[in-house]
Amino acid sequence: MKSRLAAAVAGAYTSAFAAEPPRVPDLCAMLEVPPDPAMGDYALPCFRFAKDLRRSPQSIASALAAAWLSPDLADCAVAGGYLNFALKRGAFTTLTLDAIRSAGDSFAASDEGAGKTIVIDYSSINIAKRMHIGHLWTTMIGHSLKRLFEHLGYKVVGINHLGDWGTQFGKMISAYKRWGSREGVERGGVPALVDLYVRFHKEAALNPALEDEGREWFLKIERGDSEAMELFNWFKELTLRDVERTYRLLGVTFDEYTGESFYIDKMEPVVDELRAKGLLTLSEGASIVDLSADGIPPALILKSDGATLYTTRDLAAAIYRARTYHFDKCLYVVAYHQDLHFRQLFRVLELMGYPWAKDLAHVSYGMVSYEGAPLSTREGRIVYLDDVLDAAITKARALIDEKSPNLPDKDATARAVGIGAIVYAALGSGRIKDVDFRWSRALNFDGETGPYVQYTHARCCSVLSKASAAGLDWSEEREWSPESLGNDEAQAVLLLLSRYPEAVSDAAHRYEPSILTRHVTQIAQAYNRYYYEHRILDGEAENQRAGVILTEAVRDVLRKGLYLLGIDAPERM
Ligand code: ARG
Repeated sequence: MKSRLAAAVAGAYTSAFAAEPPRVPDLCAMLEVPPDPAMGDYALPCFRFAKDLRRSPQSIASALAAAWLSPDLADCAVAGGYLNFALKRGAFTTLTLDAIRSAGDSFAASDEGAGKTIVIDYSSINIAKRMHIGHLWTTMIGHSLKRLFEHLGYKVVGINHLGDWGTQFGKMISAYKRWGSREGVERGGVPALVDLYVRFHKEAALNPALEDEGREWFLKIERGDSEAMELFNWFKELTLRDVERTYRLLGVTFDEYTGESFYIDKMEPVVDELRAKGLLTLSEGASIVDLSADGIPPALILKSDGATLYTTRDLAAAIYRARTYHFDKCLYVVAYHQDLHFRQLFRVLELMGYPWAKDLAHVSYGMVSYEGAPLSTREGRIVYLDDVLDAAITKARALIDEKSPNLPDKDATARAVGIGAIVYAALGSGRIKDVDFRWSRALNFDGETGPYVQYTHARCCSVLSKASAAGLDWSEEREWSPESLGNDEAQAVLLLLSRYPEAVSDAAHRYEPSILTRHVTQIAQAYNRYYYEHRILDGEAENQRAGVILTEAVRDVLRKGLYLLGIDAPERM
């Protein structure tokens, strides 16, 4: 709609001022949505033309209105320096629904990303730890961004940057050798490893010699000792096996699991390069990059014993990704407590002279607390992600048994609805906001929730199957009456549908899936209002077809929108 209006504005501009008009995409970007719907559907601020045309914005708006050649598309009215447009309902209805029908699955898709690659580092779990509720955000924001950018034509590489390096793995081997058993750990999985680790810390407080033993084992890992490597790799396999189920439930996949240990042999050249570029300085035996000119603490590259750090591995990883993928953007979806780490990382790469350093972005999100206090494994205030998913699925299943006992495939639907509720909760508000996890809220399926949007989608499916069952044919060649959608409720739905491509593009470019979450919720609300006010399958066939075509468009947009958020859309609930 915006591009149509913009093209019409360009025409009016040429005839009003006998001058070269601004480019259509630029005009398109200038079009705003007025704060008050009574002012119209779109507004063009004319202030920016004033300098070129040497006229006041108001007289420019008047001249454009006088030269307006597209009364079929929209009426326009001058308001100060603005030209306000009220779309013509009939034309708008036909254009919008035709566009959605002919685009099919590629509505709101684009080829802007053709030939471009985006790397997304998300979820990035640590070995021998269980996923907790905080991981939901990085996992689902990253997953949604992956789908959004793919929809815009980019090639996306999803990377799980495993936390699989560090002295804790030496301690874990030491604990396992002392108190663990193969069967016990095989059976108990990651929680058994966590228990061993906790025990190590308790006992080490009484017997400090244990710390040395842990260090010894880590040295062995570093040297590639076969027993140490065998155990370390086994811990890794166990962890990946445990999280595999969680990822499967969430429908999340990765192209790579290249974790920190992948970069062990790739760090030396990076350290050499830093030294050769004169960036490395010694400070109390450690090697650092001084960042005081930027007003931030130095980046630690090597400890005094020569050990590498998280930042060293991230430097090697960024350089590796740039060389391997030639990315246009590399995103790191990590909570904001690592803000400083990423500022240091990006700045060091800039100082190294890498032009692509500007294409790195930290997509940070808020901290997650639990019933009002920070998560803490040590204090037992922790919520594990798989427990939350299981509880939501159980609740969904109970609701289905109560309300739709005859539904086929209840388990699959319960899974889609339970998971949908949890994922929606993570993507429903702006990512930078801190969130307090509460069970009652997570398990609430009423109001603005994932199940509400899913339910609306299922409602559309049901309207469509009733229409087919009644023998209605609404295929492209059949006449339908746009006038019957001239009512306010249908127009509200259409306006939201026509703005959906913008919501998709904004959500991607601002790394903010919540923009899309909000938009699909609004579409669902508007459709339900329409549904309650108007009988779709009543009256003239042409009118019925119009309502069904609108319903089909809503169904397709909701299904695709939910998909882009990582939420399934069952046809029946
Ligand atoms: N494993 C890290 C953590 O749990 C997150 C890693 C994020 N990605 C990265 N390239 N630093 O804190």
